[in-house]
Amino acid sequence: MCGIVGYVGAASDETALGVVMEGLARLEYRGYDSAGVAVLDGDHVEVRKRSGKLANLRADIDARPLPPTATAIGHTRWATHGGPTDTNAHPHRGGADGRLAVIHNGIIENFHALKTELLAQGAVFSSETDTEVAAHVLAAEYDRTGDLTAAMLAAVARLQGAFTLLAVHVDQPGVVVGARRNSPLVVGLGEGANYLGSDVAAFIGHTREALELGQDQVVTITPTSVSVVGFDGRPVEGRRYHVDWDAAAATKGGYPSFMAKEIDEQPHAVADTLLGRTKEDGELVLDELRVSEDALRAVTKVVIVACGTASYAGMVAKYAIEHWTRIPCEVELAHEFRYRDPVVDRHTLVVSVSQSGETMDTLMAVKHAHELGALTISICNTHGSTIPRESDAVLYTHAGPEVAVASTKAFLAQITACYLLGLYLAQLRGGTQADTAAAVMRELREMPEKIQTVLDRMERVREIARFMADTRSVLFLGRHVGFPVALEGALKLKEIAYIHAEGFAAGELKHGPIALIEPGQPVFIVVPGPATPHELHAKVVSNIQEIRARGARTLVIAEDGDEAVVPFADEVIRVPATSPLLAPLLTVVPLQVFALELATAKGLDVDQPRNLAKSVTVE
Ligand code: M6R
Repeated sequence: MCGIVGYVGAASDETALGVVMEGLARLEYRGYDSAGVAVLDGDHVEVRKRSGKLANLRADIDARPLPPTATAIGHTRWATHGGPTDTNAHPHRGGADGRLAVIHNGIIENFHALKTELLAQGAVFSSETDTEVAAHVLAAEYDRTGDLTAAMLAAVARLQGAFTLLAVHVDQPGVVVGARRNSPLVVGLGEGANYLGSDVAAFIGHTREALELGQDQVVTITPTSVSVVGFDGRPVEGRRYHVDWDAAAATKGGYPSFMAKEIDEQPHAVADTLLGRTKEDGELVLDELRVSEDALRAVTKVVIVACGTASYAGMVAKYAIEHWTRIPCEVELAHEFRYRDPVVDRHTLVVSVSQSGETMDTLMAVKHAHELGALTISICNTHGSTIPRESDAVLYTHAGPEVAVASTKAFLAQITACYLLGLYLAQLRGGTQADTAAAVMRELREMPEKIQTVLDRMERVREIARFMADTRSVLFLGRHVGFPVALEGALKLKEIAYIHAEGFAAGELKHGPIALIEPGQPVFIVVPGPATPHELHAKVVSNIQEIRARGARTLVIAEDGDEAVVPFADEVIRVPATSPLLAPLLTVVPLQVFALELATAKGLDVDQPRNLAKSVTVE
């Protein structure tokens, strides 16, 4: 939530505003309630900010150009404290002279107490934000210390909560100081220029060399130096890394939206996540985990923590991991796990799933699991992000940058990585479980091609979606691994098309939700393949009959060759046959395409749906 960019070039470099605006465009997916910049111009700091999307700020700057400068910071906001207005937009000035400007991501929990104290000292506030409080605290510390880094160190000692802060001061042109606590910040290393960003997208157009910062660190960048200290003031070394994607990967590449592009990239996302993780004989090698095989063999329980779409990937994983390993597996929303009293010990493996690696709820769950002594593994798509750093080990998904707020390719990559982890645990257990793992791996390698087949067949789904543009409610049913797929189909539709949608376990329908069925009610049914154990296929076919008898319009997702569904389906959407546990990689695709097409037909911004942000860094 909130995107942050900072840039410092040599004194003669006048590109800072352009660099920061470009970074904001790439970070806008993190929040789009308002945008603003601060540029250093001689003896004053010029701040320009506008509510609404970045385009509003751009238009304002075009109409009233800002001075050329070598030092700038910029912010795109997802509102927490104070509505999405011009005055609440960042940057905020601090101190009576307003010679310092601050941008912020996160929440300062003790802002009220600090504000009361500052008001008593005569501070004047123009916004309702917690950020302006931080700006005044920082300005007071600057007046005391005369140095922005020292002031930041003193200020963070007074702030509680989670925050990333960037600050500039007119007395120190050519310097940007940042601080992070439980909120993201990375450094981009340039030639004669340096960058700060909420993630590498902020500067990917200029450098692919980055420096990872740890928690509770303050960083000071100048055109030629980067220095990092802990909140205790001691120097620390950041970890340098090369970003394995480039600016082109973060563009729409000719597609009308990032979401459309990312749906089409799914075969690659799955293939790349599988790449290099098996030997020639099919044996899985996950050396990168750096957890001893003995520790993994000693695991007696798996708990998966995640939020939103990532939690549905976790639900798919539960079915697979229990089936392949016979280790009990629970899935829990990260924000619920943290605040109850979970039974976790050193033989519990807590797996977090997160595309961004910054979701605060998931991060807090991982920290809690650590405190309880669990072994923690993160499945994550973003190098240098916080959750992998806070985990004992990480298994990266290789979906590439996901820009659309609605997660698609990351979901498929997460499911794939969960499968890999489950199969690896099965392989370690040996015997028939290892044989099963080898057989599943063979089939998993065929999935990118099958996903492509589904994508190639989507024309009818698009037609159905356009036809349903005025629909007010859609239900989604699934069973077994089709249940999380139904939940994901409903979430996608709510999220980008603003249509009321519910996902149900098909078996649960008769316990209440069937009362929602009235003539014409559209219902998607994710049908398990006929090979699914326990006659589940037949049971779901019965469920379809039950709702059709009550007037539902049935949109059935079924395997090629499954003729049993035909008499009860108003539409049949076909996916290639596959073994039951792998089916979510195929069956979810039509639901993503349906949501995308319907939202597009309604004229909505599918990449930046209202009220949402890509990376949820507040609890
Ligand atoms: O970055 P994460 O995977 O941790 O994000 C978790 C959820 O916030 C995310 O999946 C969210 O539900 C998406 N907007 C769904 O499309």
